[in-house]
Amino acid sequence: MKNLDTETLTSLAIALTPPYNHTFLIFATCTIFSPMNSSLLPYYSAHFNSPPEILLRAPGRINLIGEHTDYNLGRVFPAAIDKCLYFAMSRNEQAGQVRFHAIDIPEETTFSAGSTSVSETASWAKYLQAIVVELNLRGYPVRGIDGVFGGDIPLGAGLSSSAALCCGFIYGISQLQNMPIPKREIALIAQAAEHRIGLNCGLMDQYAVLFGKKDTAICLDCKSLEFEHFPLNTGAYSLVLLNSNIKHELAAGSGYNDRRRSCENVVAAIQQKHPEVQSLRDVSVSMLETFRERLDPVDHRRAAYILRENERVLQTRTALQNGDMQQVGQILYDAHEGMRTEYEITVPEIDLLVELAHAEPGVSGARMVGGGFGGCTLNLIRTSEKELILPRMMTAYQQKTGIQPTSIEVKTADGVGRV
Ligand code: GLA
Repeated sequence: MKNLDTETLTSLAIALTPPYNHTFLIFATCTIFSPMNSSLLPYYSAHFNSPPEILLRAPGRINLIGEHTDYNLGRVFPAAIDKCLYFAMSRNEQAGQVRFHAIDIPEETTFSAGSTSVSETASWAKYLQAIVVELNLRGYPVRGIDGVFGGDIPLGAGLSSSAALCCGFIYGISQLQNMPIPKREIALIAQAAEHRIGLNCGLMDQYAVLFGKKDTAICLDCKSLEFEHFPLNTGAYSLVLLNSNIKHELAAGSGYNDRRRSCENVVAAIQQKHPEVQSLRDVSVSMLETFRERLDPVDHRRAAYILRENERVLQTRTALQNGDMQQVGQILYDAHEGMRTEYEITVPEIDLLVELAHAEPGVSGARMVGGGFGGCTLNLIRTSEKELILPRMMTAYQQKTGIQPTSIEVKTADGVGRV
């Protein structure tokens, strides 16, 4: 966690080493688990009658640019943020069960640690069980876990609460069972769990949640899975999320998988003549145009968006390197227009937020962030004008939609870790 000095960490480590020092543990937790400080440990102790063995945090993420490019093996530019899920967990080998509580809902679940299929129905519990299934099938047997989690990542806001849940849970199990799993493998397991539940996502969210580093964004090539931590310096501008409070539901039945299918249709058509093409990453603009007549127009339009979006990631990187925030902002606006008219994953409320940004000279750019169909816009706002601009935009949004939006100042953070 940020701002934790060595002394606090050492004290916390002592507090977490048996015999537990309960008084300190609760004090230390109050320092650490802001803003849900007082709830996690008391909740754990009340339900499991002992303190947890480990505490960890898993952050949400933003994405500067590169939306829906990950499953097309393209480029993305996400960053882990200081909105997190927090976990308190222990081994529970005798019971051979996973007993977990979602404290913010509040709900609990119990299922076999040996699960090899998903029978849970609550959305968050499905994720946990899918993870256990994946671990068991991959030779990482789960022996029994008790735990609670909660946090401040808004759900359905496009900030990857599900990747935080999955990656945090896997990391916790690996730590508790002394079963090292490389972060890259954790990302693949978390992705497989999402696929098992019905969302055919890429790997952007998991990489951001696991490999995030404070003050940087991750420039990730989803083909090679190589990435760099790129210093995120926005100069006189601040990155601010505006949550439309239209919750998106990406899993099965949503337009997300349908977009992925369009891209795969295009690749399959091109492969007939160019067997070397494995994904849209291997397709050039001119190649796509050559095939235009043979493609469904909607599929063609979606693929064209992906090719342009990949380019925008590189352009954003250059503009950031040059400190050119006007240029970065313009690319954000262009990307939003692509999502609105070509990939068709925005909703009217989100488009309104971007329109309101356009009307403000102090906003250099804005676009929807994440999988789409609701959630947040990411706004690049001149810091000195932020206090005037944000209330104007938020009032106008509320007047037109009747929905109260929420603003979240973005602070980058480190990836999953023990606290
Ligand atoms: C969701 C998915 C990611 C990615 C984004 C869109 O967050 O989980 O894999 O496709 O949508 O960029």
